[in-house]
Amino acid sequence: MMNKDNLYQNGETNGNFTFNDQVAEVFDDMVHRSVPLYDTVIDAISRLINQKQQVRITIYDLGCSTGTTLLELSRRLNHSSQRLIGIDNARPMLSRARRKAAMFGKADSISFREGDILDCPLPGADVVLCNYTLQFIRPPVRRNVVERLYQALPAGGLLIVCEKVLAEGLFHHRFIDIYHDFKRQQGYSELEISAKREALENVLVPFSTEENMALLKQAGFDRVEIFCKWFNFASFVAVKE
Ligand SMILES: C[S@@+](CC[C@H](N)C(=O)[O-])C[C@H]1O[C@@H](n2cnc3c(N)ncnc32)[C@H](O)[C@@H]1O
Repeated sequence: MMNKDNLYQNGETNGNFTFNDQVAEVFDDMVHRSVPLYDTVIDAISRLINQKQQVRITIYDLGCSTGTTLLELSRRLNHSSQRLIGIDNARPMLSRARRKAAMFGKADSISFREGDILDCPLPGADVVLCNYTLQFIRPPVRRNVVERLYQALPAGGLLIVCEKVLAEGLFHHRFIDIYHDFKRQQGYSELEISAKREALENVLVPFSTEENMALLKQAGFDRVEIFCKWFNFASFVAVKE
C-alpha cells in the first residue's frame, strides 16, 4: 500500500526539496503521479536489457530511491544470473528500498548501498541506470559524472538516462502546461503544483534533449538514441562500442 503524497497540500514549500524521511515515506506515490509513463519506461528498459544476450548481468541503478526499478527488472529480465545494485545517497530512501526488497523476497538478489553518484565504485557494470537522477546533479559536474560512467562500462555496455527535459522556444511553456494538466489529472491541486515547483527550483535543473544527447556523445558513447519521450520527459539509451 502506497502512502499518499500530500506533502505540499497546504501550499508551503518548507525550503528546498530534499530526499528526506517525509519524502521517502510518500515517494512511490509521488513518482507515479509526477513522472508520466513511469511504469512504461521501466518496461522499455527491461526490453533493452533483455537484448543483451549473456548469462550473467550486473546492473547498477544510480539514485535508486525506494528500489522500484530494480524490483521490477528482477521480475522481467531473462538473465539466469543477475547482480542488481541500487545506489543512493539518501538513507531514508535506502531503508524503504531494503524493506521492499525483503517484502517481495528479493533481499538476496538485489542489494542497496549508500553512495554518491559522483564517486561510487561500479565494478563489473554491464548496465548503468540513471533514472531521473542526473537532473539533481549540479550542472557543472554532470559532464564528469557521465564521463565516469562511460569509463566504468565495458565495450557493449549500456547507459540508460531518463530525465525531465526543457523544450525550446514556443514549446517550452506549452509542454510545461501539458505537464501541469497531467499533474492535475493525477489529483494534485494548483497549490500543490506551484509549491512543489518552487521547492524544486534550483534543485532539479533540467537540460534540453539536445544538451543531454551532447553530454552522452561527448563522454564517448558512440550510439545514443531516445527510446521514450513524453513532452518534457525523455529517456535515452547510450551504447559504448
Ligand atoms: C527522482 S529520484 C530517482 C527516482 C528513481 N531512480 C526511480 O526511477 O524511481 C532521485 C534520487 O537520486 C538520489 N540522488 C540525488 N543526488 C544523488 C547523488 N549525488 N548520489 C546518489 N544519489 C543521489 C536521491 O536521493 C533520489 O533518491
